[in-house]
Amino acid sequence: MTSAEHETIFTYGAPALKYGSFSSDEIGYDLSQFGARRVLVVTDPVVAATGWPERIAEGIRGYGIAAETFDGVHVEPTDVSMQKAVDFARGTGPYDAFVAVGGGSSIDTAKAANLLTSNDGELMDYVNAPVGGGRAPANPLKPLVAVPTTTGTGSESTTVCVLDVLSLRVKSGISHLRLRPTLAVVDPRLTVSQPAGVTAASGMDILCHAAESYTAKPYTEFGRKRPEERVPYCGANPLADMFAEKSLQLLSWALPAAVRDGEDMAAREAMALAATFGGLGFGNAGVHIPHANAYPIAGQVRDFHPDGYPGDEAMVPHGMAVSLTAPAAFRFTFAANPERHERVARLLAPDFEWPGDLADHLPAVLTTLMREIGLPAGIGAVGYAESDVDSLVEGTLKQQRLLATAPREPSEEDLAGILRDSVQLW
Ligand SMILES: NC(=O)c1ccc[n+]([C@@H]2O[C@H](COP(=O)([O-])OP(=O)(O)OC[C@H]3O[C@@H](n4cnc5c(N)ncnc54)[C@H](O)[C@@H]3O)[C@@H](O)[C@H]2O)c1
Repeated sequence: MTSAEHETIFTYGAPALKYGSFSSDEIGYDLSQFGARRVLVVTDPVVAATGWPERIAEGIRGYGIAAETFDGVHVEPTDVSMQKAVDFARGTGPYDAFVAVGGGSSIDTAKAANLLTSNDGELMDYVNAPVGGGRAPANPLKPLVAVPTTTGTGSESTTVCVLDVLSLRVKSGISHLRLRPTLAVVDPRLTVSQPAGVTAASGMDILCHAAESYTAKPYTEFGRKRPEERVPYCGANPLADMFAEKSLQLLSWALPAAVRDGEDMAAREAMALAATFGGLGFGNAGVHIPHANAYPIAGQVRDFHPDGYPGDEAMVPHGMAVSLTAPAAFRFTFAANPERHERVARLLAPDFEWPGDLADHLPAVLTTLMREIGLPAGIGAVGYAESDVDSLVEGTLKQQRLLATAPREPSEEDLAGILRDSVQLW
């Protein structure tokens, strides 16, 4: 490729942001600035039981704005669960704004409800091709205020909504600029009641957002795009790097501290900031192999029940699924940019003594941290064996949107090797 054919442009998009304790008390005012008269608060039953969604709804009503609540979000949403939220919003609407209070599951469900009450058609029309129709929304969506109660996904900043398509046993998503929330309100007080298991899994999601976006294929290594071809994930770039570095620094102390003591407010504040920075970075640069592997690891689960996640459905939570192949994936991508991989390791563990091969440094930092915060010891510990590797590889290969950002293109055999090395991490 001649230099003229290389990409020269990177892009950055983000919602307006309010960060800090008590910021969720101001949502009524914020909605009044959008001219909202009637809003739908979207949450899940466990988050509803914390009382925060009702407190936020009351604050909204204080500004003369009517607020209804849908508290039926399914944790790790499915096409069926999202349809219920859409039906509720269509049946009780119209609404002129949405407020999501919860983790990625609630925020993503609110994105879908907003999409399908602002546009015609059905959910599967908009799911990424080839799983769904890959249709782009013709109309702009209503304002969405996203209020995260986990410290993880960054969904409050991103243009993506993730769902399980039950009939196909596949995780997929809807990805379009119009899905991005209008305003992210990050109030660390809302994250304190997260169980330790949720803090650990969603914390590893942040870590992988930062580490993957920092080691992603640089935007300059893509072919030059026409304006209509630009996608939100443009590859590693100087702005996303800044967010990733800061996020990793915060995680280095705050992730173990918040898992150890959920009431540690300094750690909770740092985790909320780390999640926000992680989302602002990866939401523009993209993520790669660990996230691509996470889709089949979560989607093909048979019988794993993680601590801290209520209900009796088998599941591998998203952050856990992402982290389990991260050590092996970063060992594979190391050669593409050793300095960046080493920098990630140093930001996470400045004092870590590593006498061995540098390619093993980041994997060792990750497995040490994962053991400390109680993550499973590999995909074997969540129910997979070497005999499952082919089927997992098949699932990973469907995530071409994510694999396109890998700094080193993995072959089918490379992916199988990463998954085999992840069966037992320690
Ligand atoms: N849209 C995106 O950009 C994006 C990015 C990453 C992941 N995701 C998706 O987000 C989902 C995962 O979201 P998540 O990790 O934030 O968790 P979650 O929303 O699935 O919630 C996890 C569990 O924690 C509970 N919980 C949440 N906040 C709580 C609180 N403050 N106190 C007590 N319990 C609380 C929930 O009820 C649930 O049981 C997955 O579906 C994943 O695919 C989306």
